[in-house]
Amino acid sequence: MRDVTRSPAAAAPPVLSSKLRDILSLEDLEPAAKRYLPHCIFSFISGAVETNASRHENRAAFQDYDFHPRVLIDVSARTTTKTLFGGSFSAPFGIAPMGGAGLAGYRADLALASAAATENVPFILSGASLVRMEEVAKANPQAWFQAYLPVQRDAIAALIGRIEAAGFRHLVVTADVPVGGNRENLVRAGYTSPLRPSLKLAFDGISHPRWLFGTALRTLRHHGMPYYENSGAERGMAVFSNAAVRAHLRDSLSWRDLAWIRERWPGKLIVKGLLSPSDAETARQTGCDGIIVSNHGGRQLDGAAAPLRVLPRIAEVAQGMTVMMDSGLRRGSDVLKALALGADFVFIGRPFLYAAAIGEADGVRRAIDLLRSEIHRNLAFLGSRDLSELHGRVQRIAR
Ligand code: FNR
Repeated sequence: MRDVTRSPAAAAPPVLSSKLRDILSLEDLEPAAKRYLPHCIFSFISGAVETNASRHENRAAFQDYDFHPRVLIDVSARTTTKTLFGGSFSAPFGIAPMGGAGLAGYRADLALASAAATENVPFILSGASLVRMEEVAKANPQAWFQAYLPVQRDAIAALIGRIEAAGFRHLVVTADVPVGGNRENLVRAGYTSPLRPSLKLAFDGISHPRWLFGTALRTLRHHGMPYYENSGAERGMAVFSNAAVRAHLRDSLSWRDLAWIRERWPGKLIVKGLLSPSDAETARQTGCDGIIVSNHGGRQLDGAAAPLRVLPRIAEVAQGMTVMMDSGLRRGSDVLKALALGADFVFIGRPFLYAAAIGEADGVRRAIDLLRSEIHRNLAFLGSRDLSELHGRVQRIAR
């Protein structure tokens, strides 16, 4: 009998280790990663800010909508493929940029990049990544680059020059970090950026030996001390330091800087971290090719709107500009709701980093496959042959 629950993968599935066979949904990844990771690093990934209100609402927003399926439609040839900026991908989701990924899993930036390449989904390399962008671009020539802009124009120009020379064709500028979020939960958990050597940190590491040997010592042995390799044209600071202070201050950046970048960046320009239709209009007028509607996974302004709730109004003003979304998506059903409400594509963060931590590239491939399979299965239930046939299938619940 034909297997109707799996989507056609981009490559043969990896042989799964027992730990990955037990992962049956993206939600299973968090408890597995919690066991693997030191408490402070798990808190860094899972955490949000202040009361965690936005992180909570990001998930809750999906419950505001339900499905209205159509039946007895021949969906035997259904497909999860989706085009984005002229490329054809095996699924309508990609991997969001996540800084410090290499603290969680061995060379996690590369694991994420190569898994995305094998499974043919987009991957965005964070500007706060720990593997040189040139190496990542070799592992995944389709990868996008996300920049945290420096404030000086000459530093921006030098960074853009490096990104272009490395071969990236998609530049994502993150706009929702004018200052660092108030991550008091991280202070409690003992996480700082950079990490400060301390007894508490040492104990946290030693009490998680699989991470200590599989990620930390393995990285140090083969690659030495990890650095923020891609924050500018030159290597940034080390991830462990007693003295260094990480600058988060970008509060002088404005749309004028975006317009200036637009004149210099020849590839696709995408702004990440918008929640307002007015900002979406400004992005379009500035010549951006796309936006990612996002509240940074609830990690910046606590109480910032859940992206799903503002998505329909933003999609209305997009007028042809590509609208993407992230924050809180965990299920194939979430992805389908976001697409039905106006997203052209979505991105997912934390679960893929948990997957890279516990299972490296195979773990990420497992996560991609699970999510894509859920979308493929749900398309059948919805009576949709492809992702353009979602009209009327998702409606707001009248309460
Ligand atoms: C992030 N995010 C992020 N965003 C960005 O533009 N640049 C970055 O370097 C980072 N770093 C980062 C690290 C970690 C550990 C996390 C969890 C997130 C935000 C990320 O791109 C995305 O917006 C959210 O993760 C999406 O929410 P979910 O899917 O994690 O709920």
